[in-house]
Amino acid sequence: MSISIITESVETKEEKLEFLIPQIESLIEDEDNFIANVSNITSVLKNSFEEYSWVGFYFIDRRNGELVLGPFQGKTACTRISVGKGICGSVIERKQTLIVDDVNQFPGHIFCDPDARSEIVIPIIKNGSVIGVLDIDSDRYSAFDNLDKVYLEDLIKRIIHIF
Ligand code: SME
Repeated sequence: MSISIITESVETKEEKLEFLIPQIESLIEDEDNFIANVSNITSVLKNSFEEYSWVGFYFIDRRNGELVLGPFQGKTACTRISVGKGICGSVIERKQTLIVDDVNQFPGHIFCDPDARSEIVIPIIKNGSVIGVLDIDSDRYSAFDNLDKVYLEDLIKRIIHIF
């Protein structure tokens, strides 16, 4: 299995996203360990985009319904988030991706990282139930747009079998 991720020949964010997703699929195809795969996905995303300052997963803890921190790349983060709280908890309730251009303007935003300026959170929906989120922060305002949404939602759909 190759673990090198190639992005040198691509320039735009769309090209990079398009190029990366099949590489992520092949990176995880021969491995069935959930933690190994999810960890590597956070690494690929964090290291491929300068504007992604924190990339990680939160998963629903079935014992109490809270979100609990999963594998991530970036600064130390909050370990538990209640459903309905913050951007991640809102995405669990709405079952829809949220893009927040300025986290200071989002009522109830949970500040894990004081450098965070904008954020995208994608729900992970398996068999109709939301089981967690992919959360990406940026230290820049308005770092995320519809391209991130479309490609990251597609990524989650393509790799849903690992969750
Ligand atoms: N800002 C998130 C909390 C998680 S961190 O960004 C890693 C939120 O408001 O849900």
